[in-house]
Amino acid sequence: MTDSSVLWYANRASGAAGLFLFTVVVLLGIAVRLRVRLPGLPRFGTVSLHRVLSLSATAFLALHITSAVVDGYVDITVLDVLVPFTSAYQPLWLGLGTVALDLMLAVLVTSLLRARIGLRTWRAVHWLAYASWPVAVVHGIGIGTDTGADWLLWLTISCVAAVLAAFGFRVAHAVRASRRTPAALLLTAELRTTAGTRP
Ligand code: HEM
Repeated sequence: MTDSSVLWYANRASGAAGLFLFTVVVLLGIAVRLRVRLPGLPRFGTVSLHRVLSLSATAFLALHITSAVVDGYVDITVLDVLVPFTSAYQPLWLGLGTVALDLMLAVLVTSLLRARIGLRTWRAVHWLAYASWPVAVVHGIGIGTDTGADWLLWLTISCVAAVLAAFGFRVAHAVRASRRTPAALLLTAELRTTAGTRP
């Protein structure tokens, strides 16, 4: 096996591993927001797992990108990695990978600086994870050598199905919460009035 084909296999394998890990990270993020307690884990286990896996996914992504740049078989520069749609090689599909990377970096950096930037800003930027994930999926489908292979097809289908289902729960939860809030406020005000206190 030549050095170039080792790098190429490393790029493909780390791309698929990154897709799987980022999917689990998104699912765990939704689980954290919905306060789901995973079986066998302590109360803060879901948050810790979300954090640890997001760093692991970033490590795979670093390998994915480094192997693509170092591999001399295709011409991908460091600039192509950071600035979308500038690459000579597959500009659209690679550019989508770059967009996903930039969004993920924004999510990662603001998470590391969360104590400094405040919860509001952190949460606003964290929403970008929902945009970054589908862009990365489309990048993988568009550019991947293994896109037609059964294993990657099923991995991609399972990841998309899992995230769509979790996102559905998340939206349903938000809708229920927004319906409950006015009713809950009314009830509190009524209870206070009955108890003779000011609302
Ligand atoms: C942000 C998250 C990213 C994820 C989750 C991701 C995921 C993937 C996946 C699943 C594949 C298909 C692998 C296969 O066919 O076996 C792939 C291919 C590829 N990715 Fe990414 N990618 C990301 C970002 C990037 C970036 C920023 C670059 C820029 C260097 C890049 C470069 C490539 C290249 C060159 C291929 C084609 C490999 C081949 O020839 O099969 N990716 N990626």
